[in-house]
Amino acid sequence: MLATKTQFVCQECGAAQPKWHGRCPSCSAWGSMVEEAQRPAGRRGAAVAGNGGRRPQPLAEVEAVRHDRLPSGIEEFDRVLGGGLVPGSLVLIGGDPGIGKSTLTTMALARLATRQSVLLVCGEESPAQVRMRAERIGGAGRIGVVAETDLEVVCQTLVQEQPAVAVIDSIQTLWANDLSSAPGSVAQVREAAGRLLRVAKEHGITVVLVGHVTKDGTVAGPRVLEHLVDVVLLFEGDRTGDLRVLRAAKNRFGSTAEIGVFEMTATGLAAVGDPSALLGRGDLGGPGSVVACAVEGTRPLLLEVQALVAPSELPMPRRLATGVDRNRLAMILAVLQRHAELPLGSADVFVNVAGGVDVHEPAADLAIALAIASAQRGLPTGPLVAFGEIGLTGRLRAVPQAERRLREAQRLGLTHALAPGGTLGVAGTSLRTAQTVAEAIAVTLPAGP
Ligand SMILES: Nc1ncnc2c1ncn2[C@@H]1O[C@H](COP(=O)(O)OP(=O)(O)OP(=O)(O)O)[C@@H](O)[C@H]1O
Ligand SMILES: [Mg+2]
Repeated sequence: MLATKTQFVCQECGAAQPKWHGRCPSCSAWGSMVEEAQRPAGRRGAAVAGNGGRRPQPLAEVEAVRHDRLPSGIEEFDRVLGGGLVPGSLVLIGGDPGIGKSTLTTMALARLATRQSVLLVCGEESPAQVRMRAERIGGAGRIGVVAETDLEVVCQTLVQEQPAVAVIDSIQTLWANDLSSAPGSVAQVREAAGRLLRVAKEHGITVVLVGHVTKDGTVAGPRVLEHLVDVVLLFEGDRTGDLRVLRAAKNRFGSTAEIGVFEMTATGLAAVGDPSALLGRGDLGGPGSVVACAVEGTRPLLLEVQALVAPSELPMPRRLATGVDRNRLAMILAVLQRHAELPLGSADVFVNVAGGVDVHEPAADLAIALAIASAQRGLPTGPLVAFGEIGLTGRLRAVPQAERRLREAQRLGLTHALAPGGTLGVAGTSLRTAQTVAEAIAVTLPAGP
């Protein structure tokens, strides 16, 4: 009789070890190794005879499969996908709990169901719960629902029903009964994604997997999943606010620069065609508030950067950032202290991008620096849009697409701007330029400390 071999698999990084370790030798995570049954090695390791191979085919002779996309009809969703879902592709949508993943996928299915056959596999909620949501957002009566968590049954159902699009909500609830580990573990998630991938490719079914994000922001722990699927979408936003941003972390069929912006309403997610306009709700230009203009994909986006500088009683003052990369903030703070002589050494600094949006562009540096300087001095900059990259020497670097940024600000009534030297202005906007971050602070916050 063949003894079942087991191995220990890290639930964080997926590394397999023959022995148990308290700390994963590969990613150094503590207590993450779980025993799993090992798959038979097959013919691995056998001598290669060289007569069972396949002949390569010239690429030009490969039958071209036309990717007629399936647009969901939700413009913001389709834009991020690159024009709609590609038949036979595997799409992963990740996001924090309660962010609206099920709402988004149900809405997309409801639209798709008018032209295609669609299937919703719900492992997380009962069909009654799904129905309640569907009724709230409307138009979902045509969606076929299956409440199932057994991977084998799910695959069989897909092959039998042959829907054009299937949503699996969520991948963490599926389990293959030939694996001993619990649902949601690396082995189960990887197995489920692998099997669904095969079904998707063989039968041309577009499979959308909903996945939870772990505390450190990776989808379902295993990075392996991200390599396996064609598209990885991340649904982000401040759960307490209404704004939601959908971005592509990976897309084999389109750009990853585009973002989709939604607002959560009682009737589902409403597209925000003009995200910058949301800013108009706040009181702009007070101390510690500066408007940045980031270009995400093809669209400029105005964002309000807020800062708070307060005396600290801690030996290591706090530096907290929401929506801004921590390392970027540390760099900007160091430049402000060194090159603009801003006394921040014994102050707590908090920076927040209003609306729960993440800014990734260095063009937001100048707005962040100005917001901090304005908060530190307790002086407002007045309504103003600022953009520019800050270098380690304190010099400002011009950023691309200045004209589009200025026009977007102008469209929303911001006619004062600050940008690095060399930036060309547009008619109707009073543009001031500065060579260094110190000069930028001097021209916008004239009174000394
Ligand atoms: N009646 C309602 N009116 C307004 N918003 C609602 C209403 N019901 C739910 N929501 C919003 O929908 C969100 C939940 O959406 P959804 O169930 O799609 O999230 P999810 O990402 O699938 O969550 P989970 O991780 O639990 O599966 C809530 O956090 C809330 O913001
Ligand atoms: Mg859900």
